[in-house]
Amino acid sequence: MSAVIIYFSRTGENYINGRKQMVTIGNTAILAEKISSQLAISAYQLSPRIPYSDNYDEAVQAAENEKNAAARVDYEELPIDLSQVDTIFLGFPNWWGTYPRVVATFLDDHNWENKTIYPFCTHEGSAFGSSIQDLQEECVGAEIKTGLAVRGSKAAQSDTAIKNWLLSYLK
Ligand SMILES: Cc1cc2nc3c(=O)[nH]c(=O)nc-3n(C[C@H](O)[C@H](O)[C@H](O)COP(=O)(O)O)c2cc1C
Repeated sequence: MSAVIIYFSRTGENYINGRKQMVTIGNTAILAEKISSQLAISAYQLSPRIPYSDNYDEAVQAAENEKNAAARVDYEELPIDLSQVDTIFLGFPNWWGTYPRVVATFLDDHNWENKTIYPFCTHEGSAFGSSIQDLQEECVGAEIKTGLAVRGSKAAQSDTAIKNWLLSYLK
């Protein structure tokens, strides 16, 4: 049994210091990368089959529509066998108060019994929102550990926060 990181993160236009700028690596991906290197475990990115627009306003609108419809968002299969994994570091941006529907779809497609989930998210003020509660409802039988929420603009400086958060996993 092993541990893996599974996350979703968007590239394209995002707000940085109050201004829209193009980014080639998303904030949640930055956290996933840091967790991966601190723990020496693999990180897998969930990629929607139809990528979100690089245009911020279009992506925000699409995400809102998906949330309101509780839509399924199909994603590329991950090259891992989750039955061989017992611990998942699950990363996502807070979108409209919870995890994006592509993450919800992934959670819905798998069995979480007896798995341990360490959630992490990036956000612009609402931290986890309702996502921890939503995870608990979605991932029946899983143990949801205390998560780590980092403001997106602080992702690059989150090494110490991550290190402290991982202490409970490492002990
Ligand atoms: C569609 C969309 C919806 C968002 N909704 C929220 C929100 O409800 N609360 C919040 O604090 N931040 C919200 N944000 C900001 C993101 O959570 C933040 O920029 C995050 O760091 C993006 O992560 P990423 O770069 O990994 O995609 C939203 C961003 C997008 C694109």
